[in-house]
Amino acid sequence: MKDLSPKSGDLEAIETASRDEISDLQLHRMKKSLAHAYNNVKHYKEAFDAAGVHPDDLTDLADLSKFPFTVKQDLRNNYPFGMFAVPRDQINRIHASSGTTGQPTVVGYTQNDLRMWEQVVGRSLRAAGLRRGDILHNAYGYGLFTGGLGVHGGAEAMGLTVVPISGGMTQRQVRLIEDFKPTGMTVTPSYMLSVLDEFHTQGIDPRKSSLNVGIFGAEPWTNAMRQEIEQAFDMHAVDIYGLSEIIGPGVSMECVETKDGLHIWEDHFYPEIIDPNTGEVLPDGELGELVFTSLTKEAFPIIRYRTRDLTRILPGTARSMRRMEKITGRSDDMIILRGVNVFPTQIEEQLMTIPSLAPHFQIVLERAGRMDSLTVNVEATPTAGPEAASAGATELAHKIKASVGITAKVALGAPETVARSQGKAVRVIDNRPKE
Ligand code: DLL
Repeated sequence: MKDLSPKSGDLEAIETASRDEISDLQLHRMKKSLAHAYNNVKHYKEAFDAAGVHPDDLTDLADLSKFPFTVKQDLRNNYPFGMFAVPRDQINRIHASSGTTGQPTVVGYTQNDLRMWEQVVGRSLRAAGLRRGDILHNAYGYGLFTGGLGVHGGAEAMGLTVVPISGGMTQRQVRLIEDFKPTGMTVTPSYMLSVLDEFHTQGIDPRKSSLNVGIFGAEPWTNAMRQEIEQAFDMHAVDIYGLSEIIGPGVSMECVETKDGLHIWEDHFYPEIIDPNTGEVLPDGELGELVFTSLTKEAFPIIRYRTRDLTRILPGTARSMRRMEKITGRSDDMIILRGVNVFPTQIEEQLMTIPSLAPHFQIVLERAGRMDSLTVNVEATPTAGPEAASAGATELAHKIKASVGITAKVALGAPETVARSQGKAVRVIDNRPKE
């Protein structure tokens, strides 16, 4: 794999600033952001008043814990534009989450917000090892989803040549990687596996492709999956995180030289970890729910937004800003099976250790009588014989029992039988009756 470490002069000054400099900047910005939300968004005025707090009550960063949380339902209640803090004619861009249930959540950006987004995405792409003049194959979906356009804007602003291919049409993805010779690719990890299959179908060796780095996010993925992809393409695989409510991709990013978790771009997004049950703020290092407060956003300031993502905050390494550990899952994705908590990433981790099984999987939950059951749908790799595949399926059930502690059925299908994603993978199909 190519050495993509940064050289001196590659980074912005704030990326190597001292902790004191970062905290001073955060406090200054947080005061402004709280006041901006309170003065311009009815929801925040009412929520702060009801909690008996005022933006002037914030004298140090820890005072943020006095302010109320914001949850997805608050955004839904204010659909579509009720959370905007600037007049509508200053909004330059709208994005929205699809919202599988109920109303979508809508977010807006001013000119300055778009510039800030370009800055944090550019910083993220540089952390992945890309530099001015590189070609980026951007396979995140374009449209209301923030992945495609968010990466696109930041990549153009930092001087990359962007191929805005979006998701889907997998044969063409491979064709354009072969023809245009990009050095970087942005895509969900699950879709990258479909692209990998297509390389094999076309008889092209993915290890000979021009790609030096893949930048994967928008869904959870494991270090085991990282190894699989790095090995298959002979390239680096790094993690990018974000959510539309905070900005989109580029809230935090893993550095290619360390691959030890994601540096949060704390000059714009202030993180907290809370106990999801009590709401209490937990010290750095403890596992809990990630909460963000925007420090510089104009159109859509967001205060203490509960992401539902579970992680812990760690000290800075390759950059001075703090890191978040690779996300193990969302509290929404957690399956409780006969009293045991299970995340799809735990299943993924075990699946990746079995060479006769392909890395694609889907979990189906069912209920017979009062018993819940969990089935993992998997498939053989195209080269594995039926015996090896069947032994692999048995081994997977054992490994899940040993490491996760649940009895799972493993349903083995022929190659290409597990549903493929072109964006975010649907990992769990819950067929249990709604209570
Ligand atoms: O998925 C933004 C994005 C696009 C991030 C492209 C990275 C790359 P939403 O559609 O609002 O935004 O979904 C946000 O996706 O709360 C996490 O649960 C999950 N997620 C995003 N990135 C990661 C990641 C985009 N690297 C939700 N690891 C978040 C694990 C992730 N989960």
